[in-house]
Amino acid sequence: MNNPPALRVTAISKRFRQVSAVNQVYLDIAPGEIVALIGPSGCGKSTLLRCVTWLETPDEGFIEINGAPFGRQREGEMIRHQSRRQIDALRPRLGMVFQQFNLWPHLTVRENIITPQRVVLGRGGEQARARAEQQMAQFALSPVADRYPWQLSGGQKQRVAIARALVMDPAVMLFDEPTSALDPELVGEVQTLLRSLAQGGMAMLIVTHDIHFAVNVSTRLAFMCEGGIVEEGPVSQLVASPRDPRLRQFLALTSGSGRVNPSTQE
Ligand SMILES: Nc1ncnc2c1ncn2[C@@H]1O[C@H](COP(=O)(O)OP(=O)(O)OP(=O)(O)O)[C@@H](O)[C@H]1O
Ligand SMILES: [Mg+2]
Repeated sequence: MNNPPALRVTAISKRFRQVSAVNQVYLDIAPGEIVALIGPSGCGKSTLLRCVTWLETPDEGFIEINGAPFGRQREGEMIRHQSRRQIDALRPRLGMVFQQFNLWPHLTVRENIITPQRVVLGRGGEQARARAEQQMAQFALSPVADRYPWQLSGGQKQRVAIARALVMDPAVMLFDEPTSALDPELVGEVQTLLRSLAQGGMAMLIVTHDIHFAVNVSTRLAFMCEGGIVEEGPVSQLVASPRDPRLRQFLALTSGSGRVNPSTQE
């Protein structure tokens, strides 16, 4: 039997009163895959990420992480709901990196990376510290380990946010607009970092407005519109021959003067 995907999203839907924010979304992400989720503002991208993490309770549908149910599961004809406590215990399997990084301002870089391991995973001090030092070294953060977030550049803050998520040893990493708070010259750096994570087998779902970034970083694109994923596939295929007229329009609007060219990928 094949290995299960790192992340499986099945028929997820979420309404806010009259607004159908997410409507019957299906998505599988394998280890080592980077899926970029693109689409117009308000189409439901952030809501989908929040449903995947159960920060928002989906009205319908199922999430599985490495084949294990997260949040609710089907048992024959019945649907069994996990308790809040079970959901909170499983959530660290998903590493989340937010647009504004959400670092703790009163903690140093090192403390930002150690604390969640202690509090959420219950790791001992030695182990948490060793894991933090190793991750900081890998991300060139050791020289700034004793600084506070306000003393960091945007690129450093981004790397701390990613390091803090990675030390929890998640099965999947989720990013909401990881480049929007960064100067353009730092976007390439994030791209390189995310690709190297994928080479190590990490599965990633990245919500982004930046079509150039999406094309350069991802192995697969998913285009969302009005709550649903209306087209998905390999980057080259979606960019070179989009089928859905809404995707064609989105690409025309967002690619600007610099043509989106997947052949520029290594
Ligand atoms: N907590 C909420 N209460 C009511 N409506 C909401 C809530 N969160 C999102 N929505 C609505 O759901 C829809 C999807 O919003 P969402 O934030 O997921 O879009 P998005 O694709 O992430 O947009 P953007 O690209 O601008 O970040 C929008 O119509 C939004 O107004
Ligand atoms: Mg959003």
